[in-house]
Amino acid sequence: MKTNNFAGKVAIITGSSMGIGKATAYKLAAHGVKIVLNGRDEAKLEKIKSEMIAKGYEVIAVKGDVTTPHDCEKLINTTIATFGKLDILINNAGISMRGNFETLDISVFEKVYDTNILGAVYPTKFALPHIKSSKGSIVFISSVAAIRGLPSISVYCSAKMAITAIAESLKVELSGTGIHVGIVHVGFTQNEADKKTMDADGKLIPIEDRSTKKAQTTTEVAQVIFKNIKRRQFKTVISFLGKMNAFTNKILPRLADKILAKSMKSAMYK
Ligand SMILES: NC(=O)c1ccc[n+]([C@@H]2O[C@H](COP(=O)([O-])OP(=O)(O)OC[C@H]3O[C@@H](n4cnc5c(N)ncnc54)[C@H](OP(=O)(O)O)[C@@H]3O)[C@@H](O)[C@H]2O)c1
Repeated sequence: MKTNNFAGKVAIITGSSMGIGKATAYKLAAHGVKIVLNGRDEAKLEKIKSEMIAKGYEVIAVKGDVTTPHDCEKLINTTIATFGKLDILINNAGISMRGNFETLDISVFEKVYDTNILGAVYPTKFALPHIKSSKGSIVFISSVAAIRGLPSISVYCSAKMAITAIAESLKVELSGTGIHVGIVHVGFTQNEADKKTMDADGKLIPIEDRSTKKAQTTTEVAQVIFKNIKRRQFKTVISFLGKMNAFTNKILPRLADKILAKSMKSAMYK
């Protein structure tokens, strides 16, 4: 794929019925990319699809759960049947959690690992032959929480770290094929009002309101994801906090422990 020519390309963005995925769908569509929306809530997907079509964008919506191989195969097959090719896969669907390790119900491990790891693995597996043909991009949406383990979000951190390993392995395995593999470590981002996280019992609970806090907008995050694809970068760390986290963890790991334990009180990484 040419670095600066997005028009006519085809992109799947998993988990694009709200938040960062939705903003990324809009960003790519504005550059002429044909969009495949995905999520589990059909009504939400259809609403966004209609809004995007009203703007003149070419969009389809494929309802599906990324933790189910069958749904992921259907997502890719429907894309190929509709648009004839696939240039960009953005593995964005994800779920976070709250709670110290010893308090966590087993369902939290299952749900967070299923969604964040297998939910990126399955779409990638089915998309690969098509991305190979188009010499396109596979991008994993990660978090600054993947840079090191953090208190109260151990499962989320480890899930996102697993994605780093998959992206790193894929990057080397696919070198010479023309495929771009990217991983974007997102920082503290403003949420839609109905965003949920998982509590220690595995219940979905509303996330704290971030509108008054210093958080990036989903549009700003989408712009960085767009740049990662355009420049065919491997690793992009979005926030200043994330960059500081990586730097401090490498140079002064004990100081990093202290700073992070303190800042975790404001849950700034999910
Ligand atoms: N927001 C942040 O501050 C932040 C920070 C760092 C990293 N991130 C990462 O960025 C990504 C997007 O986060 P976000 O805050 O935009 O999330 P969000 O607002 O909660 O949206 C999540 C999206 O994923 C979909 N989804 C969830 N589980 C799914 C499944 N099993 N199958 C298909 N779709 C599924 C949801 O739709 P349905 O529920 O209808 O399926 C929704 O469209 C995630 O990977 C997250 O870990 C976010």
